[in-house]
Amino acid sequence: MLVSAKEMLTKAKEGHYAVGQFNINNLEWTKAILQTAQEMNSPVILGVSEGAGKYMCGYKTIVGMVEGMIEGLGITVPVALHLDHGSYEGALKCIEAGFSSVMFDGSHYPIEENIEKTKELVRITGEKGISLEAEVGSIGGEEDGVIGAGECADPAECKMIADLGVTMLAAGIGNIHGKYPANWPGLSFETLDAIQQQTGAMPLVLHGGTGIPADMIKKAIDLGVSKINVNTECQLAFAAATREYVEAGKDLQGKGFDPRKLLAPGVEAIKTTVREKIELFGSANKA
Ligand code: 13P
Repeated sequence: MLVSAKEMLTKAKEGHYAVGQFNINNLEWTKAILQTAQEMNSPVILGVSEGAGKYMCGYKTIVGMVEGMIEGLGITVPVALHLDHGSYEGALKCIEAGFSSVMFDGSHYPIEENIEKTKELVRITGEKGISLEAEVGSIGGEEDGVIGAGECADPAECKMIADLGVTMLAAGIGNIHGKYPANWPGLSFETLDAIQQQTGAMPLVLHGGTGIPADMIKKAIDLGVSKINVNTECQLAFAAATREYVEAGKDLQGKGFDPRKLLAPGVEAIKTTVREKIELFGSANKA
């Protein structure tokens, strides 16, 4: 059964560790993440962006796949199925389809509009026992080849959104989606500290987990981060392992073209990445 992310994140904040959100793209991704979380006895959050939702044929398909897999693989650790960077309409669709957690990313709206829409979703998710992530201060990243610097959120605005009753809050602290540029100045711990002081027990979310050095991850957890999102790193690991398989000509040997063989090294690479992150975030044996 899918669960809301509330309990696992409350425990993480109290216990000074973080739960990983790993984004999924297909069956192999989902299976690799679920099996690794189970093997490590860790709670886990499966992230689905709106684009990945379309790619996987809609939110209902995903709910069916994940629920079926939890049963079929005998997964007993807590699993939340979460919409990543959702629009208001996307969040409503996921709630309808059976997701157990949603993010509404209203960071590009003026703060008043972000508050209004987040408030409405606090009411709707509250009635259904679904967790809700909100965002203040947009997270940078590569768009059409232009790499934007990560914004730093205003701690007072973070408090306004946290006080609406959301489950967890994503705040920009100089983090960026995708690979970090060589001249990236690092996370702004000053901003994170100020946000944590304003928002107290609220679990904070660190997006753009790919490529953040381990010491910065640990410091962010010390300063109140309880959920860390990782996407690109699994994609890079999968692509590199698949490339190696094909470049070694293994798809041309015997039945090496069978997708169950062709995709196996990539799946193993995702598992290794997820294992490393669970270790680093400290959520092993916290299921
Ligand atoms: P990365 O792709 O940089 O790991 O970021 C993932 C993320 O924050 C998803 O919301």
